[in-house]
Amino acid sequence: MKLKKNLLSVLVSATALGAVFSSNAFAAEPIVIKFSHVVADETPKGQGALLFKKMAEEKFPGQVKVEVYSNSSLYGDGKEMEALLLNNVQMLAPSLAKFDKYTPKIQLFDLPFLFDDIEAVQRFEKSDAGKSLLESMKDKGITGLGYWNNDLKQLSANKKLIVPKDARGLKFRVQNSDVLDAQFKQLHAVPRKMAFGEMYQGLQTGVVNGAENPYSNIYSQKINEVQKYITESNHGLLSYMVIVNTKFWDGLPDDVRKGLSEIMETVSDSVNQKSHEFNLADKKRIQEAGTSEIIILTPEQRKEWREAMRPVWKKFEGAIGADLIQAAEASNNK
Ligand code: LMR
Repeated sequence: MKLKKNLLSVLVSATALGAVFSSNAFAAEPIVIKFSHVVADETPKGQGALLFKKMAEEKFPGQVKVEVYSNSSLYGDGKEMEALLLNNVQMLAPSLAKFDKYTPKIQLFDLPFLFDDIEAVQRFEKSDAGKSLLESMKDKGITGLGYWNNDLKQLSANKKLIVPKDARGLKFRVQNSDVLDAQFKQLHAVPRKMAFGEMYQGLQTGVVNGAENPYSNIYSQKINEVQKYITESNHGLLSYMVIVNTKFWDGLPDDVRKGLSEIMETVSDSVNQKSHEFNLADKKRIQEAGTSEIIILTPEQRKEWREAMRPVWKKFEGAIGADLIQAAEASNNK
């Protein structure tokens, strides 16, 4: 009797266990993609992340879940890359200024006055040379899925920056990029590498006196409230690479990876079509707010800035590669 009872209980537990394994309880767990970034939702990157979430969850209901963390709410820019490599987040879109530790070639995008306008940037990103950079960090565990552009950057300060010598001695917040550091040293200014999330306070308290940002970041971070003057210099680019942890990405079921790649293409086109307009709308909002004077340079003044910053190119030509610089310059010709 006792043996029979024991046998029965073994059978019951085995069946229960079998039911758990075969009930799809594990297969039904959604694939979670944590997408972390440092800017506001109301920016080209913020909107791109939300559109990716919407499209991915619509195409794979219950199977893919995208959690978007904006405004450095999960990781600031000092820590996010490390988090991606540890698979604590799966997707990021860091500025191209933040990759020099992983591939020196990407420093290309920080060269001052490289691209004439955002259309030239797009032509380069779609070229073979541009696409090859997406693959350039695979051996480090990082796969690039596409480029999302913000816009060209503008200088700002509490004094008028009209000619390069106006920047002398001022402390400028820069992203963690040696090219940008060199760019301000070239002006005899003092660059300070600082996380994006610390910039507002840095400017407010005078730790730094100036910055370089596209209008969308100026407006959404309220930088215009702590900078009296914005010089429309369009001297450099702020653009992003959407990246994933390579192991995570390659381990996805084929149909999911293919579907998400297609969605990423659509989202990238949408972000890149709208980003310049987005920035122009924020420029208008800044003008309406009346916080800062926007200084428009004459062609001669802009040429002076170009000449003052241009020696930086030579310093980084070896690390970036003359061929790549030439390919990027060629994209200025329509
Ligand atoms: C910055 O640090 O200025 C930018 O990279 C922030 C961003 O992601 O737009």
